Amino acid sequence: MTRLRNRHLLLGITGGIAAYKSCELVRRLQDHGMSVQVVMTEAATRFVSAMTFQALSGRPVYTDAWDPRVANHMPHIDLSREADGILVAPASADFMARLAQGQANDLLTTLCLAREVPLWIAPAMNRQMWQHPATQENVARLRSHGVTLWGPGQGSQACGEIGDGRMLEPAELIDHLQAALADNTVVLNYPEHDPEASVSALRVPLRGLLDGRRVVITAGPTFEPIDPVRGITNRSSGKMGFALAEAAVAAGAEVTLVAGPVSLATPQGLRRVDVTTAQDMSDAVQSSLPLSPRDVFIGVAAVADWRPAQVHDGKIKKDQGGGLDTVRWVENPDILATVGHRPADQRPFTVGFAAETGTEEGLLNLLGPKRSRKGADLLIGNLATDTFGKDLARLVLFDGSHTQVLPTNTKAAQAHQLILAIADALRKEEG
Ligand SMILES: Cc1cc2nc3c(=O)[nH]c(=O)nc-3n(C[C@H](O)[C@H](O)[C@H](O)COP(=O)(O)O)c2cc1C
Repeated sequence: MTRLRNRHLLLGITGGIAAYKSCELVRRLQDHGMSVQVVMTEAATRFVSAMTFQALSGRPVYTDAWDPRVANHMPHIDLSREADGILVAPASADFMARLAQGQANDLLTTLCLAREVPLWIAPAMNRQMWQHPATQENVARLRSHGVTLWGPGQGSQACGEIGDGRMLEPAELIDHLQAALADNTVVLNYPEHDPEASVSALRVPLRGLLDGRRVVITAGPTFEPIDPVRGITNRSSGKMGFALAEAAVAAGAEVTLVAGPVSLATPQGLRRVDVTTAQDMSDAVQSSLPLSPRDVFIGVAAVADWRPAQVHDGKIKKDQGGGLDTVRWVENPDILATVGHRPADQRPFTVGFAAETGTEEGLLNLLGPKRSRKGADLLIGNLATDTFGKDLARLVLFDGSHTQVLPTNTKAAQAHQLILAIADALRKEEG
């Protein structure tokens, strides 16, 4: 299903080799029923001619702020007004530097500065240019201005080097657009509560709430091998984490989803990292750090607390000595506590999940101490027996002073509510 039909995109193209990929991007966007207005920097026209994009898009291409073809001579304002968003792909290091500084010295930067719509950029540059502290400072600044980055990806580059800096492929950018332009209003049904009140609360759209922020989410179970055929795992399905990842993308965030062994399709518009063990999951989370206090970490995964000290090379036999009862267990890293206790300037807004058995009263008593132990801003409790493997969940949120119950509902609906709650908490924290 395409969410791009009858939508309109302003596509900015800057001076990088990857400009050739944007020709294909324009064609594929049109296949999805999207109209595209291309704006190029002067340097971009050195790589691909404006005529090529004009022929592909079926619209005149603009490069010049002084272009008299726009009726009121205000292309720097008018061209973005009818668009659902601006995507700059490729975004050069130079363009990002100018944008981060608020410069308006050509048509594209002026349009971006004067925009009222979301701005997504797909960086493309040599790996050293990408890693340069100046570029990284510009990236942080752009995110803090609400600009969302898609990519860059890793791989071989036009310059012959290998590393970060490759522009995402047209199909990947289209996935991001589909997710960003989804109609993310969730209509919900609260069986236990006044449906009218709840539905109106959930009609609050997510779009734009997490623009320019990174969100890292862990989901699903982990699997700790004992021998080549056996292991220890749990009943987590990953559905809650995946629903949250989808809602975070809809809110405009750059999402990394670290998934344990689950059989769920990857939501559009995010980066998925598949892992097996708790140690793999911890490593994947570590490699996404540091996150700034503007960013969010949500630990939904049911991570095994323990793993066998040693994985047997061969299958442990029932009739031989040294069976399963001899397995020695060692503690796994506590991923949530590691993130929650980072230094303040490198610590994201930290959200944890606590799945417990027993009664809801027991769960409520446990949330306070567990939240402090983990260093979480928000701890969300649920009863594992109600939730694991199911499509519905009842959640209890505790932020250190208030407890809020989200009555039984679909995980998509709960994810929507949680992203609203997180965006609200961030807004309050940042004043
Ligand atoms: C052959 C060639 C390839 C280039 N490729 C890139 C690139 O991939 N990414 C990038 O950021 N800059 C690249 N540059 C440098 C930019 O074109 C240059 O910084 C230019 O000023 C960008 O202008 P713009 O940001 O207005 O488009 C390249 C330059 C040359 C000559």
